[in-house]
Amino acid sequence: MSLDLKSLIRTIPDYPKKGILFRDITTLIEHPEGFRQSVEAIAAAHRGIGITHVAGIEARGFIFGAGVAIAMGVGFIPIRKKGKLPGQTLGQNYALEYGVDTIEIHADVLDAGDRVLLVDDLIATGGTALAAVSLIRRTGATIEHAGFVIDLVDLPGGQRLRDQGIALTSLVEFEGH
Ligand code: PRP
Ligand code: MG
Repeated sequence: MSLDLKSLIRTIPDYPKKGILFRDITTLIEHPEGFRQSVEAIAAAHRGIGITHVAGIEARGFIFGAGVAIAMGVGFIPIRKKGKLPGQTLGQNYALEYGVDTIEIHADVLDAGDRVLLVDDLIATGGTALAAVSLIRRTGATIEHAGFVIDLVDLPGGQRLRDQGIALTSLVEFEGH
């Protein structure tokens, strides 16, 4: 039976600061069937379209992305915060509310001909996901699909990804953030 995944996501007001409604996926992944169904739903939406790899973004994107890769029978590629990957890397800056951060991918992990599905827990402004798309494209691989558990639909991330030619799947939408 299909669970109401939205009801398994806890909302914590005023975290990490006053006025923010934090959508907390720890209550979803702690629920075995909720976790399984969320991973399976993202995988199911992307079978049969030639996906060769799933890329997940540190940290919460690892939780879902690893499961989706296993469910689809493809390899998993970690996109990590700066300084964590041991091999040669490509890096991309992205804007935070205050300042910038950098994510990295191994430079030699993908080739032209590879077709990547990007997975993260949540899309908000889209800054993180767009930086990941840019990294994946710089490896020479193709990315046309991204899957998220949550889309904060009041924020422009989803549209920004679509503008980059990315088809977006999200399982749960929240208004208000
Ligand atoms: C959070 C979330 C997404 C990103 C979405 O990651 O997991 O990766 O923000 O925001 P955006 O669309 O505005 O870029 P964050 O780096 O805060 O924390 P994490 O390491 O726990 O994933
Ligand atoms: Mg994150």
